[in-house]
Amino acid sequence: MAEIRIAHLHKRFGEFVAVRDTTLTVADGEFFVLLGPSGCGKTTTLRMIAGLELPTSGEIRLAGEDVTFRRARDRDIAFVFQLFALYPHMNVRRNIAFPLLAQGLPRAEVRARVVEAARLLRIEHLLDRPVGGLSGGDRQRVALGRAIVRRPAAFLMDEPLGALDAEFRALMCEELRLLHQRIGATTVYVTHDQLEAMAMADRIAVMDKGVVLQCDRPAEIYHRPRSIFVADFIGSPAMSFLDARPAGPTAARVGEATVAVPRLQEEPPPELVLGIRPEHLRLADSAPLRGVVAGVEYMGARQVVTVDTAAGRARLRCGNEVKVGFGERVGLLPDPTRAILFDRASGRALRSELFAAAGHG
Ligand SMILES: Nc1ncnc2c1ncn2[C@@H]1O[C@H](COP(=O)(O)OP(=O)(O)O)[C@@H](O)[C@H]1O
Ligand SMILES: [Mg+2]
Repeated sequence: MAEIRIAHLHKRFGEFVAVRDTTLTVADGEFFVLLGPSGCGKTTTLRMIAGLELPTSGEIRLAGEDVTFRRARDRDIAFVFQLFALYPHMNVRRNIAFPLLAQGLPRAEVRARVVEAARLLRIEHLLDRPVGGLSGGDRQRVALGRAIVRRPAAFLMDEPLGALDAEFRALMCEELRLLHQRIGATTVYVTHDQLEAMAMADRIAVMDKGVVLQCDRPAEIYHRPRSIFVADFIGSPAMSFLDARPAGPTAARVGEATVAVPRLQEEPPPELVLGIRPEHLRLADSAPLRGVVAGVEYMGARQVVTVDTAAGRARLRCGNEVKVGFGERVGLLPDPTRAILFDRASGRALRSELFAAAGHG
């Protein structure tokens, strides 16, 4: 069992708080992603879990044991860095074997484990090649091989795909996910890329300014974000945010229009923001919410249409059969069951039927 439990973890650098009172549990075997913009405290959190940085306060438990003050090398954890240092003069086999040889394991055992790791990563055919001439993706696999031969209780990965180009990244995302399915080791993966996080995570913790804002399954974060920040950070094209005011139990005033919205479970504040995902907004001639088309992007089978309204800019996704042109006046119809209302002042999502349906009460 290799559950990672962090409680009230706090890290200051002088006066600056990099990680603020963070409590979360990564379940045994879970692929857990720390997601957030650059500088939000992801690396610092990961380094504390690894033992490379001491927390200012708080506690870290690995498989039930308090490891808060234990040295990195005495924690049963493998850290995969973005800029992994492979030994260029050694072949793939020796690079993967290195941590085991350093531990003084018997040679037969080392050989068997290296072949096993290479098989999992599908780089058996490269074992006797020098790492110098390998592609970026293969080098990444060798780095992973070196982490998995140790059979650690947990893996920590800090933007491991950051150095790869987009095409390779997508391939490696899939590769990592498959590897995780095969070995099932607890993994904490850091990225600022929401698409990467959505594609790989069992659960995602969205961070900003040292604080975990929401920790949930990807679909939950996508459909039921708890704040404007989280809603805006996840999804491409992004959610649209329109200025709104309350107008009865299931309606909001958006610009000159009255729009149907989910019933709120609390008294709405006077200033609202109506959030709607591009696939939950459609063009409708008779819809009272009016706007002017400011852009049309063709994306293969679909298109993304940008519309400027009196209440803000909206983007919607629709099929290419919909004919619409720049400058055209159109009506917009948000799916009344999908709109999310936020408190403008705090950015907090207001609880509605949409949240209740998922047991968010
Ligand atoms: N050793 C350090 N000394 C001072 N400030 C640091 C140090 N390490 C990180 N920071 C600051 O803490 C914040 C969080 O950094 P980091 O955890 O690396 O963010 P992320 O990985 O999310 O980009 C940043 O503002 C960074 O400048
Ligand atoms: Mg970082």
